[in-house]
Amino acid sequence: MAAKAKLFVLNKLPEAVEARLKRDYDARLNPDDKLHADAEIVALSRGMDGILTSPTTPVGAGVIGALDQSVRIVATFSVGFDHVDLEAAKARGIAVTNTPEVLTDATADMAMLLLLAAARRTYEGQKILREGRWIGWRPTQLIGIGCQGKRLGIYGMGRIGQAVARRAKPFGFELHYHDQNPLPPAKTEGAIFHADVEDMLPLCDYLTIHCPLTPETRKFLNAKRIARLPKGAVVVNTARGPVVDDEALIAALKSGHVAAAGLDVFEGEPKLHPGYLGLENAYLLPHLGSATLDTRNAMGFRALDNLDAFFSGRPPRDRVA
Ligand code: DGY
Repeated sequence: MAAKAKLFVLNKLPEAVEARLKRDYDARLNPDDKLHADAEIVALSRGMDGILTSPTTPVGAGVIGALDQSVRIVATFSVGFDHVDLEAAKARGIAVTNTPEVLTDATADMAMLLLLAAARRTYEGQKILREGRWIGWRPTQLIGIGCQGKRLGIYGMGRIGQAVARRAKPFGFELHYHDQNPLPPAKTEGAIFHADVEDMLPLCDYLTIHCPLTPETRKFLNAKRIARLPKGAVVVNTARGPVVDDEALIAALKSGHVAAAGLDVFEGEPKLHPGYLGLENAYLLPHLGSATLDTRNAMGFRALDNLDAFFSGRPPRDRVA
């Protein structure tokens, strides 16, 4: 029987995923979910055939350059792979895989949750209840923003953007989207395509962000673009924090130009810009988009399917480098 491939698993993973890992690999697990510094990743990867990481533990050029020659693959437990330096991996001949598709629905659900929670002022509502400040139903209390007849702009019409369109349509939104190219109408729920995002922004009563983080999308939502949104817009981000310029969004939430924001992702996670914390019109969650058991299991199994393929000499389905 061939020896099992040696895998360094950088995060604690769901039980069912770890069970499969233990069965099929000689795995160095991380039961305490300890965060490893770069030097530790390099040291603990010695003699390993592969690494299984996640957005929490970046594998940058410095780490990749210093990895033992034994490491031939970096699999990430995520659809996003901006935390792995693909160019450095390619230069070393290291394969990189991700886990697309399996978290589309959970993330789109979360975008809708954030959209509604932010627009309907649910954080403020929770607060007055829990702090014993509720004085009873009032016709003018915590008036939020509805969905019916409002325009929702989707920035990035990939799998998750499309899943948001499917969910948002029955809420009564007029849908708009920007992507590099128009999609076949069957995929867009009748959303109106804008080749230039600058043309879409003034129409966005709501804007939801679903692009990957790339040099082009970093700080996409800056002060200039926020100014193009209609006054009182709602902004949702379940993609990556650095796509938003925090200073600009915080200023707009303070001035009311942006009425509310629902944010699941932040630049510099797990830290976030302290300016958000005091804002009652910012509905904040700690990167929970894919956090359902089914989804996290599916992500783990998809990562393992890729590793299984790689180590048995077949092309991994989700190879990104
Ligand atoms: C991903 O997979 O990239 C997500 O951000 C994790 O939910």
